[in-house]
Amino acid sequence: MRTPLIAANWKMYKTTAEAAQYGKQLLEELAARQVAVSAAERGEPGQVAVVVCPPFTALGALGGVLAGSPVALGAQNMHWEAAGAYTGEIAATMLLDVGCRYVILGHSERRQMGETDEQVQRKVQAAAAAGLIPIVCVGERIEERRAGETEAVVTRQVRAAFTGLGAEAAARAVIAYEPVWAIGTGEYASPEEANRVIGLIRDTLGRQLGAEVADAVRILYGGSVKPDNVGPFVAQPEIDGALVGGASLDAKAFAEIIKQAEVNAA
Ligand code: 13P
Repeated sequence: MRTPLIAANWKMYKTTAEAAQYGKQLLEELAARQVAVSAAERGEPGQVAVVVCPPFTALGALGGVLAGSPVALGAQNMHWEAAGAYTGEIAATMLLDVGCRYVILGHSERRQMGETDEQVQRKVQAAAAAGLIPIVCVGERIEERRAGETEAVVTRQVRAAFTGLGAEAAARAVIAYEPVWAIGTGEYASPEEANRVIGLIRDTLGRQLGAEVADAVRILYGGSVKPDNVGPFVAQPEIDGALVGGASLDAKAFAEIIKQAEVNAA
């Protein structure tokens, strides 16, 4: 059984003070809704797992507030090397050092700035080797969708990201299917269409790493997820949660998304 995961990607928003305030409020809002948050990746039936990924500068402040709670901390990127002369970069061990359990890798906003499949592959391997759980983002651009290339694009991205990963590490990994045209636009894939593409992603994983891995990997939907549309997504059999951008910046809205996921999860 896959425990649903609801992940917040703050992108480049919030100061340390705002992050600490948010963390406090999120825990209050979850308690008020009596949400059963799992502290582990694989929880009890009925539980949901939750991770918040702030900018690097707010990891310490948010981590301090979330420490001892079941809500996990994650980062939005990392470098594949363990240490070295890489100005401006952050290593996996540094993320572990500030309490991260997850790291988002290969987000389309980074791919648009030049991050390649090969770089994502190196990052996924380094993250897994260090004991971080990668949240690997894949998804097609609008022109690729129009050209009928959705399947080819996501298959290529998934294959590259999981190449060189052992079965155990691969089974712990998370994939987020985020159609690029649905990010920050208010437009979103229909739950049925997202379920179809996520099913294809699972098939790809099955061919690459075997049925057991494909069955274990949590695959999320991302792109304009809100409290009032998350339910039908997580009710789909292949969709194991959501990666939330804009709506995750408000602690109350994010807590409501988590509650709706808990109630509607398949
Ligand atoms: P929005 O939820 O703002 O569309 O962003 C999605 C996203 O990019 C999460 O990684």
